[in-house]
Amino acid sequence: MWSSRLAFILAASGSAVGLGNIWKFPYITGENGGGAFVIVYLLCIAMIGIPIMIAEVMIGRRGGRSPINTMRILASRDGLSKRWGWLGWMGIIASFMILSFYSVIGGWAISYVGHAASSTFSGADTETIGALFGGLLGDPSTLLLWHSIFMVAVIMIVARGIRSGLEKAVNVLMPLLFLLLLVMVGYALASGDFAQGFAFLFQPDFSKLSTEGVLTALGHAFFTLSLGMGVMMAYGSFLPKKVSVVKTAVTVSIVDTVVALLAGLAIFPLVFANGLEPGAGPGLIFQTLPLAFGQMTGGVLFGTLFFGLLVVAALTSAISLLEPVVEWLEEQKGISRTVGALIGGLSIWVLGIATVLSFNEWADFHPLAFIPVFEGKTVFDLLDYFTANLMMPLGGMLIAIFAGWFMNKQAVENELDIGNGALFKSFMFVLRFVTPAGVAVVFVYNLL
Ligand code: PHE
Ligand code: NA
Repeated sequence: MWSSRLAFILAASGSAVGLGNIWKFPYITGENGGGAFVIVYLLCIAMIGIPIMIAEVMIGRRGGRSPINTMRILASRDGLSKRWGWLGWMGIIASFMILSFYSVIGGWAISYVGHAASSTFSGADTETIGALFGGLLGDPSTLLLWHSIFMVAVIMIVARGIRSGLEKAVNVLMPLLFLLLLVMVGYALASGDFAQGFAFLFQPDFSKLSTEGVLTALGHAFFTLSLGMGVMMAYGSFLPKKVSVVKTAVTVSIVDTVVALLAGLAIFPLVFANGLEPGAGPGLIFQTLPLAFGQMTGGVLFGTLFFGLLVVAALTSAISLLEPVVEWLEEQKGISRTVGALIGGLSIWVLGIATVLSFNEWADFHPLAFIPVFEGKTVFDLLDYFTANLMMPLGGMLIAIFAGWFMNKQAVENELDIGNGALFKSFMFVLRFVTPAGVAVVFVYNLL
């Protein structure tokens, strides 16, 4: 059991806040034209993400086991099909796929800690910084090295119980990351084109938003909140009965959203002040923030700290991705924790090589190009698309349907503990209709 509500919030925010907020959110916002995308993303968080987060944590607490068994137990207790266990399965496969590329990007962040510490950014111009990033992407062996280092760290943390130590460190380090983001926003305010960056983020131009952009916004709401794959279910199983599921789930979602918006506010003013392309892609933060660190006073210290804390944030998310895989190996195959972490981690590491190559040797390899939607997508793009845009929303929709339509109503009422008045009724309405319909509509539009 988590000792307190705060301990759960820290652990769940540790999973939620990560590369998704600081690396992915700004670059997909840039690629999808800004403001309109941000509004759709925020709507998805509020109308779909938060209700599903509540449902997932609630299911986890009632089941009290790892996701597959929680789903099976709750289903059999309420006389439903054992097939609900498949939901847990899909989550494990998605974790596996996500961690394989997450680790490669985590590796980029580790390599940038080194660059920042050795003053590589000092006084560097846009071209030098761009060439530095291009050089990293073009060099598979260096990418592989950093990917390996990141994965070894994840395996070690999950295998040996250094988690409690890490969790204590995170209590200090995550607020520090938050503070540093504020410093970066301050720098953007003073030295960037803040007005244009702000307008880009918050002034919607719906003509710039495509149908695929809407799906990306929806998918990112799931990705950034670690939803739809059993991660929050697993964490919920440790939540004490007296703690409010609703309040904690809402808190975690708000923390995550604020971090993403701060990252956007720190980055886009720099993008415009330096004549960079908002749609530059996955390298966006690695091509903008170093410019700021190279110019500001104390840039070496701030830069090293920033990328170091980004690595820590990425690690706490990565742990929550390896954990379900290891738990599954333990439960199903009777394998010890250490061996499970090694087997799971090494297999994920191998799959990660495909992402490493997606940025160089395989940059023109588009395995599913014969299907129009997947045209031009590398292996990395496909892993990202399948998990964030398809598997997580589908998993989340099934979780909402399970909690809204199938789970024992009295149990839901007890777990939520918000009475059975208007608040409860409107929550159930959102969970039963708005959430599944929202996901379904976006899916169908994209299929057509
Ligand atoms: N939410 C994490 C992030 O934003 C990524 C993640 C996805 C973690 C799914 C766990 C499960 O970086
Ligand atoms: Na996140």
